[in-house]
Amino acid sequence: MNMNSNSAVFMIFGATGDLARRKLFPAFYSLYREGKLTDHFAVIGLARRPRTNDQFRSDVLESIREFARHEVQGDADWNRFVEHFEYMSLDSTQVAGFHELRKLADRLDEKFHVGGNRLFYLALAPELFGQVTTHIREGGLLESKGWNRLVIEKPFGYDLASAEKLNRQIREVFEENEIYRIDHYLGKEMVQNIGVVRFANALFEPLWNNRHIANVQITLSETVGVEDRGGYYDHSGALRDMGQNHMLQMIAMMAMEPPSRTNPEDLRDEKVKVLRSLRAYRTPEEVRSHVVRGQYTEGEMKGTLQKAYRAEDSVNPNSTTETYFAAKVYVDNFRWAGVPFYIRTGKRLPVKTTEVVVEFKNVPDNVYLANDHRLEPNLLVFRINPMEGIYMKINAKKPGAEGVIIPVAMDFCQSCQVGLNTPEAYERLLHDAVRGDSTYFTRWDEVASAWSFIDRIAEAWSQSSDDLHPYPAGSWGPEAARELLARDGFRWWPVNGQHEGEVIWVEGETK
Ligand SMILES: NC(=O)c1ccc[n+]([C@@H]2O[C@H](COP(=O)([O-])OP(=O)(O)OC[C@H]3O[C@@H](n4cnc5c(N)ncnc54)[C@H](OP(=O)(O)O)[C@@H]3O)[C@@H](O)[C@H]2O)c1
Repeated sequence: MNMNSNSAVFMIFGATGDLARRKLFPAFYSLYREGKLTDHFAVIGLARRPRTNDQFRSDVLESIREFARHEVQGDADWNRFVEHFEYMSLDSTQVAGFHELRKLADRLDEKFHVGGNRLFYLALAPELFGQVTTHIREGGLLESKGWNRLVIEKPFGYDLASAEKLNRQIREVFEENEIYRIDHYLGKEMVQNIGVVRFANALFEPLWNNRHIANVQITLSETVGVEDRGGYYDHSGALRDMGQNHMLQMIAMMAMEPPSRTNPEDLRDEKVKVLRSLRAYRTPEEVRSHVVRGQYTEGEMKGTLQKAYRAEDSVNPNSTTETYFAAKVYVDNFRWAGVPFYIRTGKRLPVKTTEVVVEFKNVPDNVYLANDHRLEPNLLVFRINPMEGIYMKINAKKPGAEGVIIPVAMDFCQSCQVGLNTPEAYERLLHDAVRGDSTYFTRWDEVASAWSFIDRIAEAWSQSSDDLHPYPAGSWGPEAARELLARDGFRWWPVNGQHEGEVIWVEGETK
């Protein structure tokens, strides 16, 4: 028997879907190529449509050719990899197929000397999550001699009540420490780097509080509209689709206290404290004054006219679903009292980017240089996606010019480094799940706290849609989002390195 805990039979529910094709199969290949997956593994692709093993393997090849970081090597290497993949047609709503699945899992376990470990990956529509877990148990799939783990995709519920219901159902089958809830933002290199930059640098940690930080801005902008997910999105909206998970998780990473140890639970304990400290909006008026929502209308993007949200396929023509929201959020604890965290996300915005900007307080304006100059605040920017890096904006003397101070940028562009082919979030998370490291997965109490915060906003919005602001596709969202910051004397900093009119230092050179 193979006792390697890195080995497993992976059962991918939803193996013919978009996520499996774009993210999961490429992740398996990268892990295999980098030696992070032993030979003692098998992948069983599961979905309703009929597929032979050969057809499935050729789908896997196509997906890897299109989306993987590594090029497929010669036939011999490929065949060695793909022989671990088998397909079984299974309707997850019927328990009968799960008994068959158990036999197949047992057979592959034996063939590849896996040792009984099983990882169930739910890449399915969320409505199926609860029922599948029940069927996994009823089909006898948990009766093996190794570990069992459930990896579950977002969204985890539609609100707190539905998330609690789903959680109860799943917990009847799996223990909390066997459940790996994916928020793929936590798998991103630069999100994980936030903690390192904060806690490993004497330059930042002493300043990381309300005495020195004026505000924090988190932008997650998309250029795409709803594409073919109109039906799902119209029911969900930006607040639930992005706010409850990715945006609140990024606030938690920025605001948490340093964990005292490096056990997974220590980091998650610190994050949940932040989520519990979020100031709740108690009335619809409070929601209105702290949260702006918008919906895109027709507009031009890069010379192409894009249709309005309400004209998208499968979207209600009178929909009041938000495709944009911006919020002012407070973390009510000693470190952050009084510091606004501004978050915004939206579809059909001018660029695709995820960035976190930390704006530091200005030097006193009545002394020395500041007396004669309008000094720009120092900024520390985490560029999370698609560019990865850290960018710092400081004030310096303009070279050659007498008495002129200008903002200069020190730019560490991680993704620009030649040959630095950083792992995809899904690779990291899949690897963590098979190693049993749950650090960058969301624990139930985090999910519940995040929903409690989001539910109050959603509840206020459900009462009236008067405050839904239209914004043209290709713009930066409603004017009200600009006013949200202007009222506090701040502005959204340009994202995507578009800090106009400044000198850029890139890795020691002046450009
Ligand atoms: N796509 C992404 O980039 C992305 C990103 C983040 C999160 N997610 C989450 O990941 C999950 C999957 O998303 P997706 O985009 O891959 O969806 P998708 O493209 O619609 O794929 C759904 C998969 O489920 C299978 N399926 C549907 N009903 C089934 C049933 N009764 N029994 C067995 N299989 C069934 C489908 O195959 P058959 O029709 O052949 O059964 C297909 O393989 C969702 O929870 C989504 O929210 C996706």
